[in-house]
Amino acid sequence: MKYDCILLAGGSGERMGLEYNKVLYPVKGKKELFRYSLDFFIKDQECEKIILVSNHTDMEYFWDHILDKKVKIVEGGHTRSDSVRSGLALVDNEYVLIHDSARPMLYKEDIKKLLDEAIKNGGATLANRVYNTVSQVDEKENIKDYLDRDKLASIITPQAFYSPMLKACYAKYRDQSFSDDTHLFRMNGRSVKVVFSDNLSIKATKQSDLKMLEAILK
Ligand code: CTP
Ligand code: MG
Repeated sequence: MKYDCILLAGGSGERMGLEYNKVLYPVKGKKELFRYSLDFFIKDQECEKIILVSNHTDMEYFWDHILDKKVKIVEGGHTRSDSVRSGLALVDNEYVLIHDSARPMLYKEDIKKLLDEAIKNGGATLANRVYNTVSQVDEKENIKDYLDRDKLASIITPQAFYSPMLKACYAKYRDQSFSDDTHLFRMNGRSVKVVFSDNLSIKATKQSDLKMLEAILK
């Protein structure tokens, strides 16, 4: 199934504490973090267009360093939702996949399952099962209650959507911001299928994630 990909790289990486956007971090001193997912989607024949969303400052860097014709670079916005909205304007495929470039580990079999579910359902997200015991805590940080692990999913990206539906959601909730697009999709009365994956996905958020990624990535 053919699709367009919105690759989000327009944050600032505040929690990482670098002096620049974390997705530009050179892994092992060489390959920038965003390039792992960019290369994955460049190689995937079914991906017809990659819309890389950048912040204002990094636009020039991406222009200078990405040469592939399949990639369009657009300026994002203040929040992640603003950035998705900017990217969505360039989507013309029926199906769109949205991915955080801060997550460099991707697997073709997961993408295939996600798109299959988006075709059946309108929207689908990748997720990991939760293996730790998860509890609610009270205001004094004592355990209050336990959540049933079998009913939990840890939501990650990519997420896949039937583009016209997602565009309609963004048009309806013009000024609101969401942590991810499944939230917005559900607010519009749509269901989102959870595709569980056993593959490892680490999001570069804090320094310790970078250390782990540096040890794992080639
Ligand atoms: N992102 C984006 N535009 C924004 C904010 C985030 O494109 N306005 C992207 C980031 O580049 C990242 C992904 O969305 O690939 C997930 O966001 P997050 O991990 O929170 O990255 P940052 O917002 O950059 O980090 P922080 O929240 O620590 O500042
Ligand atoms: Mg953020």
